[in-house]
Amino acid sequence: MNVTIKTGPVEHIQTGTIIVPLFKNVVNKTDAFTKIDDLFQGALSTAVHEDEEFHVNSKSFTTLSLGKVHAKRIILASLGDPEKVTLDALRKFAGKCVKGLSQYMEKDFMMLSPCYALKDISVEDAYAAFTEGAVLSSYLYDEYKTQTKAKNKKPQQLFFYLDANENHAIVQKAVERATLVCTHANIVKDLANGPSNVVTPAYLVETARKYSKKFGLRLTVLNDNDMRKQGMNCLLAVSQGSSQKPALIALEYRGAKGKAPIALVGKGVTFDSGGINLKPTGSIENMKEDMTGAAVVLNTICAAAALQLPLNLVCIVPTVENMPSGTAVKPGDVVKASNGKTVEIMNTDAEGRLILSDALVYACKYKPEAIIDVATLTGAAFVALGKSVTPVLGNDSAIISQLIAAGTAVHERCWELPLFEDFSDSIKGDVADIKNLGGAKGEAGTIAGAVFLKEFVGDTKWAHLDIGGTSWTDSENDYLQKGSTGVGVRLLVKYLENVAASDGKKE
Ligand code: BES
Ligand code: MN
Ligand code: ZN
Repeated sequence: MNVTIKTGPVEHIQTGTIIVPLFKNVVNKTDAFTKIDDLFQGALSTAVHEDEEFHVNSKSFTTLSLGKVHAKRIILASLGDPEKVTLDALRKFAGKCVKGLSQYMEKDFMMLSPCYALKDISVEDAYAAFTEGAVLSSYLYDEYKTQTKAKNKKPQQLFFYLDANENHAIVQKAVERATLVCTHANIVKDLANGPSNVVTPAYLVETARKYSKKFGLRLTVLNDNDMRKQGMNCLLAVSQGSSQKPALIALEYRGAKGKAPIALVGKGVTFDSGGINLKPTGSIENMKEDMTGAAVVLNTICAAAALQLPLNLVCIVPTVENMPSGTAVKPGDVVKASNGKTVEIMNTDAEGRLILSDALVYACKYKPEAIIDVATLTGAAFVALGKSVTPVLGNDSAIISQLIAAGTAVHERCWELPLFEDFSDSIKGDVADIKNLGGAKGEAGTIAGAVFLKEFVGDTKWAHLDIGGTSWTDSENDYLQKGSTGVGVRLLVKYLENVAASDGKKE
């Protein structure tokens, strides 16, 4: 989706559809709508006035433009009570527009200013939110559809027509930023929706190579031999059942001098069969998405680089395929992680924490200011907080509250689960130091995953986002489609922007 600002006489603008946002109890007196309504001799505003239910039920009214303007049609659409409009309501409204317009198979549409009625939302935030909803909802995964009728027909160009008092430069910047970040969220969806026979560990390495060239990032790739030298035996253990070779990707972005980097670590299991603890039918079908964390951190670093954030970042992605075979790791096997801790692998399906353990140890070598990991780690995350809130856990309350604040701002909400000391008792090993499984009944499963990771970060400040419940959806909503949600990029970019802004104040 491309998003640009249009200027000039509104009636001369060539576009498929003009969307006119209307609100309860506020008359739209913008120059643009006044002009259009005049050309219809006031029939548009009258049509809405005469419908008492228009704002009660957030209705819309569509008319062909009958040659009065250069757009083909005009849609008057209700955003309801302006006092109740939130940024997410604007995202959803944009989502509805894009989805609704797909029936006309036109490539563009234009939105008139909604800001005349909004009091608590700034002009740039309003346009940014509408942009986000539009870019996110313009997505459809049609890579493998061979029939044109199954291809994406949503509009891919959005024009904004600003009201006279609205600052072009400021809106332009906000809209560009929103488009960029959401485009990266859409790329995450492409990677996670991509089948595991294509999106392999080698494919993720090539993807990182492409990003490194495009954004000028420094790339390091460890292969299995390098991993053996570094004693990354947890990571190797997960990969040993698969014919796909593992890799550990490190991408570095330098946007500041003399600052410790923030490390972003992402789980990159390109298919999680469960291994010898094979997943049953009903649990295995979507496990191509088990590399979402990897896609999220890779795309976050790209977005941060494109936005030239004044920070240093390093993105670490351990990537493997988790398969059962004659060479696969078995329940009860013991391996030594790269920090020297011995691990009893009690369940080969708790593989995410195993690959992340060695990746976290590796991340610590950069002496980072903080580590944030993103992982589809547990199905228990869904049980705890459902499909729209991500559990966040860690050893640093400041980072956790900053993540919660960033998540709230972009509506990729997260909420803290506790990591009390005694939770660590559940992962004590019988034979080795620790085991990769918590309590016998699977209780507090998301916390058990996090206490395992905690063993590998030492004193480094660290937070863990378990996107096991939020990375995928079986039903579409206003601006998300079935399949991968791309959750995490908007949250992390916002978090990094906030960190950069507060660093700036300290200096
Ligand atoms: N990748 C899964 C977690 C998952 C499940 C993500 C469903 C998204 C949707 C992870 O590797 C896993 O299998 N976790 C186990 C942990 C258990 C064996 C302790 C789980 O959640 O059942
Ligand atoms: Mn698993
Ligand atoms: Zn997994």
